[in-house]
Amino acid sequence: MKIEHFQSLKNHSRELLIVPLPKNSKLQSQKLKELVSVLGFNVSAELKRRSLEWKAGQMFGLDTPTHKQLKTVLLYCWDELKDDYKLLNQYRALGAQAFRRAVSLKAKVVSLDYTLLDLTTNKNALALLEGFELSNYSFSKYTKEKAANTITLRLIGRRKGISTTIAKQARVAATATKLARDLVNLPPKDCPPRHLVAVARQVARKSRLKLEVLNKRTLKKLGANGLLAVSQGSTEPPFLIKLSYRPSKRPKKTIALVGKGVTFDSGGLSIKPADGMMTMKIDMAGAAAVLATMQAVAELKLSVAVKAYIPTTENMISGDAQKPGDIIRAMNGKTIEVLNTDAEGRLILADALCLAEKDKPDAIIDLATLTGAVVVALGTDYAGLYATSEKLRDQLLNAGNQAGERLWPLPLAEEYDPLIKGSFSDIRNIGAGRNAGSITAALFLKHFVNKTDWAHLDIAGTAWTDKDADYLTRGGVGFGVRTLINYLANIR
Ligand code: BES
Ligand code: ZN
Ligand code: ZN
Repeated sequence: MKIEHFQSLKNHSRELLIVPLPKNSKLQSQKLKELVSVLGFNVSAELKRRSLEWKAGQMFGLDTPTHKQLKTVLLYCWDELKDDYKLLNQYRALGAQAFRRAVSLKAKVVSLDYTLLDLTTNKNALALLEGFELSNYSFSKYTKEKAANTITLRLIGRRKGISTTIAKQARVAATATKLARDLVNLPPKDCPPRHLVAVARQVARKSRLKLEVLNKRTLKKLGANGLLAVSQGSTEPPFLIKLSYRPSKRPKKTIALVGKGVTFDSGGLSIKPADGMMTMKIDMAGAAAVLATMQAVAELKLSVAVKAYIPTTENMISGDAQKPGDIIRAMNGKTIEVLNTDAEGRLILADALCLAEKDKPDAIIDLATLTGAVVVALGTDYAGLYATSEKLRDQLLNAGNQAGERLWPLPLAEEYDPLIKGSFSDIRNIGAGRNAGSITAALFLKHFVNKTDWAHLDIAGTAWTDKDADYLTRGGVGFGVRTLINYLANIR
C-alpha cells in the first residue's frame, strides 16, 4: 500500500473520493457546502433530490459523469461513536470500503477526506489502515491467479496525517494476518505437519528467529506422549516447532505462545460425521496464528522476548491409531485416559504447555480450535477466553478489542473438575457428559500449567468465516494474530 498526504480537497484523485459525512446536521451542511465549493458540484441538491437519509455506515455513491475531474464521490455516513470497539470497527470498515470500492471501480488511487476523523490517535489510524490492507486478500492459489491490487490511499486533511511507524505496524500486522489466513485455507493435503515446519523455517530465516524442530525421536526422549499418541494413526510424522525471538536490548518479560497445529482432524477412531469433518483443515488455526505472530514480532522489533511452541500432527485412522480406552502418560507424569480420540487437541497441547513452562516464561498464552462446545456457547464472533490471572485476562481483552477480535471470559470452574477425573487414570480427555465442554477442555489444559500465569483462547468458532464483507474474506480469518501483536506490543 502506498499512502500520500495532501492538505486540500482540490488534490483529490480523479477516480474516487470518499468523504465521511457527519450525522450532526450543522456539521453536515458545512461539509456539503465545502464539497460544493471545492468540487463545483452540487452535492446537497442531489442528496435532496434522491431524499437520501443518513444511516451509520451507509454509503451514498454520487456519480459525476458530467464532472471533468472526478468520476465518483462516495459519502460515508460517519457516526461519532463513544464505544472504543465500535469506533475502531468503524475506522476498519471505512478502510475496507475505500479499498473495495477502488477495486470495483478499477481506481488506482482512492482519496479520503479525513478532516472529520481523528487519525492523530494511533489506534484509529491503525484500524483504518488495517481495514484497507486486510481487504486486499484473496486465496487464489488454486484458481486463476489474480494480479495483486496496488492501490494508493491519498489522505486529505489539514491536520497531521499518519506516521510511518503506524503505517508500518499496519502493514506488518496485515501481512501476518494474511499468512495465517493462507495457512488455514490451504487444503490439508498441501498442509501436513512438515509443511508447517517448512513455513516456520522460512519465517525464521527471513525474520531472524531461532528455530528448533523436535522430531519423533526427540519427542520420544522428552516423553511427549500426547503428541505421539495422536500422531500414531497418521503416515505423516509429528513435530514440535519452537521459534524464539529475543530483542536486542535485554527484555523485561518473556511470553510463551502455544498454538494447536492439527493439520487435519478426522476425529481418529472416534470418527467425526462427514459434515463435521468437512472444515477440519482449520484445526491448525492456532498454530498458524502463533507462527504469523512470531513473524510480526520480529519485524516490529518489539521489546519483549517471545517463544512459540507449536505441536503439529494429523489426527487420522489406521491400524496404528490410538484407541478409546488407551491410557498415556503425559510429560509431567500425569496419566490420561483417552476416552475419545476426537478430543486430541488437549493431548498435544498438554505436552506443549509442559515444554513452555520448563523455559520459565512470565506468561503462557495458547490458541486452539479446541471445542465445538465453544461455538455453541459463543458463536462465530467471540472466542472463549480463560485465564489464571486477572491482569493477563484484561490485557488480552483490551488487545482483542483494539484488534476487532472479540474475546469473552469463561470460567475455569473448579466445580467441574470432577467431570474430567479418570477412573483408572489421573484425568480423562473428555468430560463425563456433554455439559460445559469448552470449560472441561480448559480445565484439562490447566493440569499442565503449574504456577505460570496462563491464558487459553478457544478459537474454534472464530477461526473461519463465511462472510465476505468489509475486511473479512470467506475462509480463514487469521484470528488472534492482531490480538497477540497488540498484547505483546503493549507489554512493559
Ligand atoms: N477440532 C475439534 C474442535 C472444533 C470443532 C474445531 C468445530 C473447529 C470447529 C476438536 O478436536 C474436537 O473434535 N473436539 C470435540 C471434543 C469432544 C470429543 C469432547 C468436540 O468439540 O466435539
Ligand atoms: Zn477432534
Ligand atoms: Zn481438533
